[in-house]
Amino acid sequence: MRIKNICCIGAGYVGGPTMAVIAQKCPEINVTVVDINEERIEAWNNEDVENIPIYEPGLSDVVKETRDRNLFFSTDVDAAINEADMIFISVNTPTKTYGIGKGMAADLKFIELCARQIARVSKNDKIVVEKSTLPVRTAEALKNILDNTGNGVSYQILSNPEFLAEGTAIDDLMNPDRVLIGGDIDTIEGKEAVEALVDIYAHWVPRERLLTTNVWSSELSKLTANAFLAQRVSSINAMSELCEKTGADVNDVAKAVGMDTRIGVKFLKSSVGFGGSCFQKDILNLVYISKSLGLNEVADYWEQVILMNDHQKRRFAANMVKTLFNTVSGKKIALLGWAFKKDTNDTRESAAIYVADYLLNEQAEIVVYDPKVKMEQIYADLDSLETRSEQENRSLVSVVNDAYEATKGSHAVAVLTEWDEFKQLDWKNIYKDMLKPAFVFDGRRLLVKQTMEEIGFEFYAIGS
Ligand code: UDX
Ligand code: UDX
Repeated sequence: MRIKNICCIGAGYVGGPTMAVIAQKCPEINVTVVDINEERIEAWNNEDVENIPIYEPGLSDVVKETRDRNLFFSTDVDAAINEADMIFISVNTPTKTYGIGKGMAADLKFIELCARQIARVSKNDKIVVEKSTLPVRTAEALKNILDNTGNGVSYQILSNPEFLAEGTAIDDLMNPDRVLIGGDIDTIEGKEAVEALVDIYAHWVPRERLLTTNVWSSELSKLTANAFLAQRVSSINAMSELCEKTGADVNDVAKAVGMDTRIGVKFLKSSVGFGGSCFQKDILNLVYISKSLGLNEVADYWEQVILMNDHQKRRFAANMVKTLFNTVSGKKIALLGWAFKKDTNDTRESAAIYVADYLLNEQAEIVVYDPKVKMEQIYADLDSLETRSEQENRSLVSVVNDAYEATKGSHAVAVLTEWDEFKQLDWKNIYKDMLKPAFVFDGRRLLVKQTMEEIGFEFYAIGS
């Protein structure tokens, strides 16, 4: 089975970069990325590739090379579905905010809408690929909808979870540790569909890194991978608090344990807490699935990873208030960084949102600077918590375009995202323009304690 036309529904952080790389590596395949959000599609088609809606190192070059050659962005979802041999579903699957499973289960509303649309439009056989992270056994539901509402055409459902991390998405896509493809491998048609997707990735990924499994293993592996990664961050963050109380340094501990090859060095960086669209959502999902199967101990075990992360964010903010003589009321506090990690403009579940909210409850005045996040996004993030009125958020929080303006006249600075440029700042100058004593709270272990103390700062770093 040779694939000539691909359609991807959802032009977000996952769909956009993934399809751009497939288009680059497979010039003979036409790839159309569709989205119901017209503004987003317009931005993807922006003449200036630097203005595409997602910031990701290396992405604009790939888009420049492929756009209008064999990569297209469109709002005509029906047409793209109709023409495609293979359809990737890459729409968002947020945590439910209502009804059964509220705050835990994944909301599959958009996935179901996609399935119904595919069923309505398709006139020939299709391979449907789940790219979005989904609860185990979603493929079954998808197949059920497609088979029962379709025009009698046949569908193969594959699970091909995304392991790209934001900020390194292009590199992760070009050189993946592995690509996982789950399908109905017990049937000939299922095997053929899996092979069709394997052939696409084999354009640039060595065959031994292309893993094929049944659909359920693939779906569950994705949740497991994210749960394990998040668990490592919560584990090291738990140690950071212990380090602060005992005089140990979490960086030394992380290095010492990480050099044990059985443990490994990656994902042991203590921080103000993990964020991003996936970790929390996927673990909540795992917790929900476990609970619904009556596996309460399994659910409690994984829920603790989230509870530890919430504690870390709260503890960081509480420590700021305590250190600032138990009050931040009316004090100007500069937050450096709003994105959930460096090299992305994504702010979903960013620790900065929760730290800011805590400080605002203590009546602080906040000034934010982030190199890539826009003012409207910062206000939207705070408004979405519904802790106070939109008007109050705008009067208590200001957003500025450089770090010096943010820190000038402030009582304290908190580093919340590990942007490289924060290391290069003229901290002597910043010190000069701050109120004294001048406090810096490093939530990312980005700055050197000794240097900061020599300048004169009262310096606090997580885990030391
Ligand atoms: C999404 C999911 O959040 C994640 O679980 C999964 O692993 C990959 O897909 P992401 O690409 O980061 O991640 O989401 P987002 O940037 O929100 O993009 C989703 C896009 O789908 C949005 O642009 C939205 O407009 C679009 N969409 C949503 C549709 O086109 N149709 C719909 O019915 C719903
Ligand atoms: C994650 C997974 O890594 C990726 O495979 C999956 O497909 C999507 O979810 P992403 O959320 O983009 O990717 O970023 P990631 O690099 O995993 O970081 C997640 C959060 O953990 C960030 O807030 C980051 O700052 C934090 N983190 C990560 C730490 O605090 N310490 C670490 O050592 C690593």
